[in-house]
Amino acid sequence: MKIVHTIEDLRTELLIWRQAGETIGLVPTMGALHDGHMSLVSLSREKTQRTCVTLFINPKQFGENEDFNTYPRNKKDDAKKLKSAGVDILFQPDSRVMYPQNFSTSVSVKGLGDVLEGQARPGFFIGVATVVTKLLIQSLPNIAFFGEKDFQQLLVIKRLTRDLNIPVEIEAGPIIRENDGLALSSRNTYLSPNERIIAPILYGTISQIAEQVSRGAALSDQVNWGRSQLLQAGFTFVDYLSIRETETFSEAKDISRPARVLVAAFLGKTRLIDNVLI
Ligand code: PAF
Repeated sequence: MKIVHTIEDLRTELLIWRQAGETIGLVPTMGALHDGHMSLVSLSREKTQRTCVTLFINPKQFGENEDFNTYPRNKKDDAKKLKSAGVDILFQPDSRVMYPQNFSTSVSVKGLGDVLEGQARPGFFIGVATVVTKLLIQSLPNIAFFGEKDFQQLLVIKRLTRDLNIPVEIEAGPIIRENDGLALSSRNTYLSPNERIIAPILYGTISQIAEQVSRGAALSDQVNWGRSQLLQAGFTFVDYLSIRETETFSEAKDISRPARVLVAAFLGKTRLIDNVLI
């Protein structure tokens, strides 16, 4: 596996494969890789001939009081995992490469990027949309892979590629869970042993909501029930719990069209997100 740090080196390597007619898959990450990331790598290896993983902890998607400084960093282990998974190239730029002096451009996906995660974490989607746009333009992959765990992020990225005519297919990978249902996340390492016991209740709650709603329960009653259930279980704050139409991301009034239950809640200092399809 090649490891490159500059855009020039990345482009030189990818061009050789592109010119040989090989398809390229891109898996953007912020490192601290777990089985969720590795499942996207497997998907890319199945669907394309060359896989490029990017590892960049993007400062622009962290708010002032968020965990940029403490975000888990594990570059050596990450590189080992990627190498043994058969990744062809790892792009590991630093901040000066991604954001040169006087960097002044941003990508903002209005509407879709302003609700739920966008409302709870102002600037988050602008940071994500900007860095993902850059990564896509830098690497020009055939397919880029993103996890459904960050479902709203996936929709934002699909929208920006459509709006900006970036010639890439965006493919989603399913959420990978621990045996007790907790969705894998690099931030799970923040949980204390006691919080780790409580954490799967997040998935349990939204799964129960999905089941009740599909049996005819009123959506608003279920959302209210879910919030109080989480607070009773020991979650400290519920940022949002919402049922949204999968296609439009507007608040679902009923489930005549495909919908998802989405949640973000704090357990102590750790913010967990999850979602399920109804
Ligand atoms: O989902 C993530 O890990 C990040 O938001 C992404 C897509 C790599 C952009 O920094």
